[in-house]
This record gives sequence, structure tokens and C-alpha cells, in this order.
Amino acid sequence: SAQLNQLAKAAGKLYFGSATDNGELTDAAYVAILEDANMFGQITPGNGQKWEYTEPSQGQFDYTSGDQIVDFAESNGQIVRCHTLAWYSQLPSWVGDGTWTVDTLTSVLNTHIANEVGHYKGQCRSWDVVNEALNEDGTYRENVFYTVIGESYIPLAFEATAAADPDAKLYYNDYNIEGTGAKQDGAVTIINLVKDAGAKIDGVGMQAHLIVGTIPTQSDLETSINSYLSAGVTEVAYTELDIRFSSLPPDDAGLQQQATDYGTVTQACLAVDACVGITIWDYTDKYSWIPGVFAGSGAALPWDENLSEKPAYSTISSVLAAA
Ligand code: G3I
Repeated sequence: SAQLNQLAKAAGKLYFGSATDNGELTDAAYVAILEDANMFGQITPGNGQKWEYTEPSQGQFDYTSGDQIVDFAESNGQIVRCHTLAWYSQLPSWVGDGTWTVDTLTSVLNTHIANEVGHYKGQCRSWDVVNEALNEDGTYRENVFYTVIGESYIPLAFEATAAADPDAKLYYNDYNIEGTGAKQDGAVTIINLVKDAGAKIDGVGMQAHLIVGTIPTQSDLETSINSYLSAGVTEVAYTELDIRFSSLPPDDAGLQQQATDYGTVTQACLAVDACVGITIWDYTDKYSWIPGVFAGSGAALPWDENLSEKPAYSTISSVLAAA
């Protein structure tokens, strides 16, 4: 039977993709599924392009980890979503704990972006330029960039990325902005902020780290997407989709609910032409980030720990096939 990326493309989407990470690429059975471009037409490096790896000390750039994933994707004919530039987490301590003025931190941010985006120029279909800049109430998160530079660090990051790779699609990326509410309103504000500064923003990435049985309705998912498009971006994507259980192990009814929830997100993307694709945040429970962060939670992905397809896989597949 047809596989997810094939089905997504037949339904008019650009890709169905997965994140991956460097350590996993030595797992042959895992790689055999990941490298199949009929299954995954797009890859996101889960860690390797983050600041702590790419500029661990000031002016010392290291693209070993990111390159390994980007090269892997290119050799398989898979699109790359590049991730991420201005983010408060996984920052090297020289940035996070540095003593900065507006001018010095602006220069650090510009230099980082110019170097990294320049290094990957032409290889990234899109960049998650700014990641997780919002609190749950829609206000700006007090990260080092905001505290020192103010909200203008956001348009500044978009300008620097556009200058270094004019062809990349530039995204604001965050979680809990899939449905409607204060944080989702904050993401609309960011689109306006960037555009009002005269900078380019092409897309909103809705991470979609969701919980089984509690996801937004398809109608709310579509309302959210349409509000981004109305604010002036030309595309959106589900960029880090996983739908976890809060207690383990799931029973059959739980797995069926998870499948339904994956189907709902897939339907929402299919319903809006400007939703270019869906990326799951790795494809197997074997390598999910969830248990390490939310103890006792997990089983969030469409493939189980033994790389067997779960009911969620069948539902994504049948929803795509019916489109
Ligand atoms: O590289 C070190 C390794 O040297 C060390 O031995 C090991 C021991 O702890 O840690 C390794 O680093 C870990 C890294 O993943 C690579 O595996 C970090 O501890 C761990 O915190 C880090 O977690 C990542 C997390 O971001 C950090 O915030 C997850 O893998 C990654 O999936 C996750 O991804 C984020 C997105 O970037 C943004 N949205 C949320 C999403 C989930 O948290």
C-alpha cells in the first residue's frame, strides 16, 4: 500500500516528514524506514542545528551534527526544514549567561544567523527563525534576547535570515498555538510585528505537541490556520506533531483515540491549501523526547518502540488516501 509522503503528495501537500537525531542514525532498522522518501519526504534535525551545537563558543562554528542530518536527507531526496535560530533553550552558556548591551547582543545574534544560515544556504526549504518566543498568556517570554534587545529581536532575526538565504521560507514556530486562545493571538501579533518592521515572514509552524483526547477541534485548528493566513503569511505547517498519553501503557481504546486525534490534525491540514505539510517529532516511540521530559507519559508517535505501525499510522494513511 502507498506510504505517507506519497499519499500526502497525491493529496496536494508538499510533504509528510519526520524529525530525527544523530544518535539514531546508527540504528539500521530505524534508518530503513526513515530513509524511504515515499514514507518521509521531509526531515528536520531534532537537535543538530541548535545554537549550543553550532556555535558552542563565540565565533567557533561547528556544523558536524547538522550536516550529518542534512546530508542524509539530501542523499535520500528529502526536503529539509531547518531548526532553529533564535530560541531561549539549548543556548550555549556564553550567550545565555553573557553580559550584553543591545548592540553587543544584536551583533551576536546577527553573526550567528549570518554564519549558520549562510552555511546551509540553498539546503533549507524553510527555517524556524524564531522558536517559542511566547508565554502561555500570549506575552513575550523573558529570554535573554527579549530582556536585552526587546521585541525587536524578533524582526531582526527574520531580517538576518532573509539576508543570508533569500530563498528559504521563514517561520515563526511554537507550541500551543494550534487551537484558538491567548497564545495563538500572540503568534498573530508576531506576524504583524515582523511585517510592520518591513521584514519577511512566510509561515507559522504549529509544533503540535498534543495530548490524546484533549486536542483542539478540527474547526478550531482551521480557524487558527486561517487567522495566520489573514495576518499575511502564505503558508503554515504542523512541525513537531506528537500526541502523547499521560499515563502508560495505553489500552486499545486509547490507541484508537490517538488514531482519531492524528486523523483530526491531518484533516485540518488537508482542509487548507496553504498547510504545506505535517512533520512528526520523530516517527517511533523508541526515540521520542516525551518520556525524558514528562515522566510517565509517552507512546506519542505512530510507530511503537519496536518500529511497528500503530492504529494512528493506519488512520493518517486512510485520511490522506481519502483526500
Ligand atoms: O548531546 C547530549 C549528550 O552528549 C549527553 O550524553 C546526553 C545526556 O543527557 O544529552 C545529550 O543532549 C540531549 C539532547 O536532546 C540530544 O539528545 C539533551 O540532554 C536533551 O535535553 C535534548 O532534548 C531535546 C530538547 O528539544 C531540548 O529542549 C530533544 O531531543 C528535542 O527533541 C527537543 O525538541 C524540541 C524542539 O527543538 C522545540 N520544540 C519542543 C521540542 C521538544 O522539547
